Amino acid sequence: MVNKEIKEILDKIVGDLYKDIKIPDFVVEWPKQKEHGDYSSNIAMVLAGKLNKNPMEISEEIKNKINIMVGPSNHNILRQAQGDKQQAQDDINKNLFVKITVAKPGFINFRISDQYLRKNLCAILKKKNEFGSSDLGKNKTIVIDYSAPNIAKPMHVGHLRSTIIGQSLYNIYKYLGYKVIGDNHTGDWGTQFGKLIYAYKYWGDKKKIKKNPIEEMTKLYVRFHKEVETNKELEELARKETKKLQDKNNENIKIWKFLVKESLKDYKKIYEILGIKFDYVLGESFYDDMLVNVIKECAEKKISSKSEGAIIVNLDKFNLPPFLIRKTDGAYLYATTDLATIKYREDKFRADKILYVVSNEQALYFQQLFSSSELLGWNDKVKLEHIKFGMVLGEMGKKLSTRRGETIKLEDVIKKSIELAKKVVEEKNPKLSNKEKKGVARTVGLGSIKYNDLSQNRLTDITFDWDKMLSFEGNSAPYLQYAYARINSLMKKYNALYKLDRINILDKPDFNLLKENIEKNIMRHLLKFPEVIENSARENSPHLIALYIYELASLYNNFYNSTPILKSERNIAKARIALSKSVATTIKNGLNLLGIDVLEKM
Ligand code: ARG
Repeated sequence: MVNKEIKEILDKIVGDLYKDIKIPDFVVEWPKQKEHGDYSSNIAMVLAGKLNKNPMEISEEIKNKINIMVGPSNHNILRQAQGDKQQAQDDINKNLFVKITVAKPGFINFRISDQYLRKNLCAILKKKNEFGSSDLGKNKTIVIDYSAPNIAKPMHVGHLRSTIIGQSLYNIYKYLGYKVIGDNHTGDWGTQFGKLIYAYKYWGDKKKIKKNPIEEMTKLYVRFHKEVETNKELEELARKETKKLQDKNNENIKIWKFLVKESLKDYKKIYEILGIKFDYVLGESFYDDMLVNVIKECAEKKISSKSEGAIIVNLDKFNLPPFLIRKTDGAYLYATTDLATIKYREDKFRADKILYVVSNEQALYFQQLFSSSELLGWNDKVKLEHIKFGMVLGEMGKKLSTRRGETIKLEDVIKKSIELAKKVVEEKNPKLSNKEKKGVARTVGLGSIKYNDLSQNRLTDITFDWDKMLSFEGNSAPYLQYAYARINSLMKKYNALYKLDRINILDKPDFNLLKENIEKNIMRHLLKFPEVIENSARENSPHLIALYIYELASLYNNFYNSTPILKSERNIAKARIALSKSVATTIKNGLNLLGIDVLEKM
């Protein structure tokens, strides 16, 4: 990775130049103004204070030293003079920079050499679907807590966001060599089950539920709330059912198990369509037996206290309200369960990090949870992070509600997207067979829902702007999927033109023939992909990858529209096809990290 290579060089050079100095933190990044170079470092500026020297002077010194050590001119010329051609070639290959400049107030700017850009193209063609992957996370385990719908209730759009963002983070970390554990922490326990069990006992219909689990359960729930309005006694009866469930009464456990099983069946349908996978589905109920010990440990470590019969963890120290871990009536809470869950993931999964992909609305809750965990001394081993995200807004920017049955069902959102995609596909490519159209519509429709979410900073609220989501122009899934498919068809045409088979097509292209600025700019952009993936993991922000591939596809489209490819001289055509293939590979890898499929044809 180029930024790391530059960092290493700088570390070494600065160590040589200014002995006995501890090198402070510095960055190597992409300068905003591209004219300045491909990479830029602030190292001279951070050294200035330490060395008591003018940063411009330091950057000049560093620049000169690099030029002597790894620069294009010196020893290479020497080698050539000595007739050592192979060595000279090796040196050229190693040469990362073609030019180093300094800029006020002390930046060092690096321009990457063409040789290096070409070398990178070869690497992409060789690594294929592994281009961008690394072993950064070797021996590190990360648990990702995502989706987590509440049993018997429809998965709402907030869960959709958690599901999509969580799965993408899962893919990204895995690609970076982490051991990743995806855990669906379903809300399958708690007081709502008393109401549902009561309702099921009196008005439930097993067959209907089996056929349409969540919809029927929702009806039971709604009916309960309606009847309660005229019959307050029901609240008390429901509470009794909850108590019986918690005391593991046979009948209630049986009903509960049935409701959980049927609900999961419904969620599974959605997961299957969206291509979502979990390693574990350990719902809240899984931790029930461990809750007593949580309360005990809190007491032993003297971080909890009684407050009007309830048990709380005092978080004054963190400027947070107290964390309730046991109610006056002895019942445990969502919070108690989450504490037990941290311990379990630490002990059993040996997690180094846990990411909670849960909406913004629970921000305070997670602060309290993490602070309590800190008081328990658990955070030394495991790092906890709340991966917040904004809301999904309905028409006219209103929050989409799910209460009292007025739901917008996820299945309907998915269906709508696929249907609209079908229309677009029919317009765009009427020649496709019906079967092909269906396949394309599905991939585009699902891709659009995911891309709409993942292409925006996760903290912003999102809407479903169908026209924009399904447009072939602009920052959308179909735009990127189309860019990929078009390169694929270009390659087919090239094959046909020169009667090549698929194996031979990219045999030793001569990248020296890629001389146009527009080609170089694409090559420069390709260099950054591995860095972008690491950045997106560091910030837990898949949208950085989305932004990157959108820029790549746009650069490529400009190239495609302005430069003859098949019509150019045969060897140039080959080099340009190979460049196109590298772009396609990168788009595909990027989209796959977002959980989005590409199409060979559309
Ligand atoms: N079921 C919860 C909800 O829908 C989300 C659970 C998130 N995960 C967790 N460990 N608290 O609000």
